[in-house]
Amino acid sequence: MAARKPRMNRLARTLQSSIGSKFLMSVTGILLLLFVIAHMLGNLQVFAGPDQLNAYAAKLQSLGPLLWVVRLGLLAIFVVHIGAAIRVTNSNRAARPVAYVYPGSVQSTFAGRTMMMSGLIVLAFLIYHVLHFTVGTTNPDHFHLVDETGRHDVYSMVVMGFSQWPIALVYVVANILVGVHISHGASSAFQTLGVTHPRLAFLKQGFGPGIATLIVVGNLSMPLACLFGLVQLPA
Ligand code: HEM
Repeated sequence: MAARKPRMNRLARTLQSSIGSKFLMSVTGILLLLFVIAHMLGNLQVFAGPDQLNAYAAKLQSLGPLLWVVRLGLLAIFVVHIGAAIRVTNSNRAARPVAYVYPGSVQSTFAGRTMMMSGLIVLAFLIYHVLHFTVGTTNPDHFHLVDETGRHDVYSMVVMGFSQWPIALVYVVANILVGVHISHGASSAFQTLGVTHPRLAFLKQGFGPGIATLIVVGNLSMPLACLFGLVQLPA
């Protein structure tokens, strides 16, 4: 047991180093990306109607304590991702205390240069989003609804929320930023994790923008479909 301590310290020190923080940021980023894809696929069931979406939501709720394990795991992943991002940003600043004279002249993209900003706005959106749909604080009148079978009426909650243009607009803008963040993050995670083989270059360059576009299209389709009446409350 005593012999293990120095090794644990070494692991902790490695993870806190600049490269260790980048590694943690990449691994947690990929886990968050998987969550965003799964969440989107689940939510797209809104297009299949109230019964389908409410049954899906009820199934998630029926997981009981397991749902809390997943929620706490997700929260821990978010916390590690944000902590590692702050560390990486700080060590990048320490390595280059004077900003580039011509920021546009270095090999960087808009998405890459604004990762901290897009990440912070996505975090603010997430807090609002959980208060809106999971806790029901922001629109309690949409939240406390049940369908004819007694299940939480998630379908009506979503449709009523997105039928109000200020709410739909928040979701549209926030989900575009989610896409901007993923577009750079997913590609650079492959680079950090060592996917550098020339044959896999497409993963580094094309994967981020490609998956981000799919996520933006999927996530914008829901508020826009409700706002423009393509998805409506049950008759
Ligand atoms: C238009 C896009 C989105 C829709 C329609 C949507 C819909 C929902 C709904 C209905 C819930 C509540 C689930 C329930 O309690 O039954 C929820 C929860 C949640 N959403 Fe979203 N969501 C969207 C985008 C996002 C994005 C982009 C993220 C992450 C970046 C996200 C993260 C979460 C989280 C963390 C929860 C809390 C899960 C829980 O613990 O219950 N959502 N979302």
